[in-house]
Amino acid sequence: MLEGIDGAGTTTQSRILVNRIKGLGLKAVLTREPSDGPIGLLIRKILKGEISAEEDVLALLFAADRLHHMESLRDHLKDSFVVSDRYVLSSLAYQGSRLPLEWVASINSRAISPDLAIIIDVDVDVALRRISNRPRERFENRKDLIKIKSIFLDLADRYGAFVVDGNRSIEEVFQDIWNLFKNWAGVDG
Ligand code: TMP
Repeated sequence: MLEGIDGAGTTTQSRILVNRIKGLGLKAVLTREPSDGPIGLLIRKILKGEISAEEDVLALLFAADRLHHMESLRDHLKDSFVVSDRYVLSSLAYQGSRLPLEWVASINSRAISPDLAIIIDVDVDVALRRISNRPRERFENRKDLIKIKSIFLDLADRYGAFVVDGNRSIEEVFQDIWNLFKNWAGVDG
């Protein structure tokens, strides 16, 4: 699972990772959260401000979206590498920046633990520059991102996630991600 603040490059890196895994002749599935299912679509409207919802409602929707869309991935989990662009750590970092972390953890306690979690850590200025050409969503401002970045780094220790430096080029960041994946999966390539 690839995690990080907005602008960290989780979407780009998830796509590259899935293609590289497939390039080895292995099965891989790409997914993302919020998902493209009904709860995920509702969440995206809330993030854009088209529908209003309090922080606790949003946290519950993220947790529900996660369980709901993992249902449809259950079969893939048996024989494929499932790469998710964001997963539970995003809820802990984003929703945990505005709500008690223990509560956010508890509503996510039924989500399957990821085998490998990688946090792409990026400076907030770099992140803001990367997302400057799109409309800002709910958490996409300096104050929130500074707090969320710091929670992600605390979570790395607590949840055994790896941290890679996301301030570098796409290729350099990917090389670190690929090395972590290969080590974990025990594959050459
Ligand atoms: P995206 O920019 O990767 O599409 O993600 C949408 C936003 O949703 C992003 O600001 C991070 C946020 N988010 C949460 O707040 N909690 C979560 O559990 C997830 C998966 C994403």
